[in-house]
Amino acid sequence: MPMRSLLFAPANHARRAEKALSLPADAVILDLEDAVAVSEKEAARADAVAACALPRRGRLFIRVNALSTPWALADLLAVVRPGLDGIVLPKVEGAEEMATAEWLLAALERDAGLPAGRLELLPIIETARGMQALDAIARAARRARRVAFGAADFNMDMGLSWTREEAELAPWRAQCVLASRAAGLEAPVDTVWTALKDAEGFAASLERARVLGFGGKLCIHPDQVEPANRAFSPSDAQLEHARRVVAAFAEAEARGLASISLDGAFVDYPVAEAARRVLAQAGPTG
Ligand code: GLV
Ligand code: MG
Repeated sequence: MPMRSLLFAPANHARRAEKALSLPADAVILDLEDAVAVSEKEAARADAVAACALPRRGRLFIRVNALSTPWALADLLAVVRPGLDGIVLPKVEGAEEMATAEWLLAALERDAGLPAGRLELLPIIETARGMQALDAIARAARRARRVAFGAADFNMDMGLSWTREEAELAPWRAQCVLASRAAGLEAPVDTVWTALKDAEGFAASLERARVLGFGGKLCIHPDQVEPANRAFSPSDAQLEHARRVVAAFAEAEARGLASISLDGAFVDYPVAEAARRVLAQAGPTG
């Protein structure tokens, strides 16, 4: 199941939640955390539960408040219901938090009559501590299939300046990809892009994340969904090239050759395998 676009909507804003659920986002994340004012935290839970019953096109996640806050437990008790696909857990800083969330989700799933392991857990790495503990967090993943990077909180915590080119994010993004891969997780989900009017900047940010090995992007505006879906799907040109690489290499291999040149570029086993993976990403018809 692709997770190219994960669109946030405040859980207590019915119109925005409804709109988000009508869009072709791979997942909608109803937010109980930073998009909800402190004075509204408790009331927002019922709104999140109500929104779970609305018609939708993709998967549905709820972002609860961080486990270190006074709201997290009641959030989880309120929202684990049939119809939910997963929980987004912000500001995760260690493997113990993953274990706590696992335990709680297993118990709540049971109480709600959900099949064991039904809910995905998506941790957001968005503090210096979380980044430092990332390997352990990724290895502790059981129901977590991937991690997400949250640069808004991360930059604030680190004292980084968020530039339009995002050069300052490169080492941390690379760390997310490396830790995910080493732990056998799916490609991670990249940070939000906050300059809503800067579509070109958003496109460049998507491209930076894609080439580094991310598989999707956290989105905060409906206009970001389609560009994210496109960026994290192979283009027609990439598919066509991948087909040619696979075919040429298969033909070469049948003749006992394992390194060839195609359009002036070297192709060997890893290059051919990368091309096969591009085709696999596009599904059986790719
Ligand atoms: C997301 O939560 C972020 O802080 O970027
Ligand atoms: Mg955040």
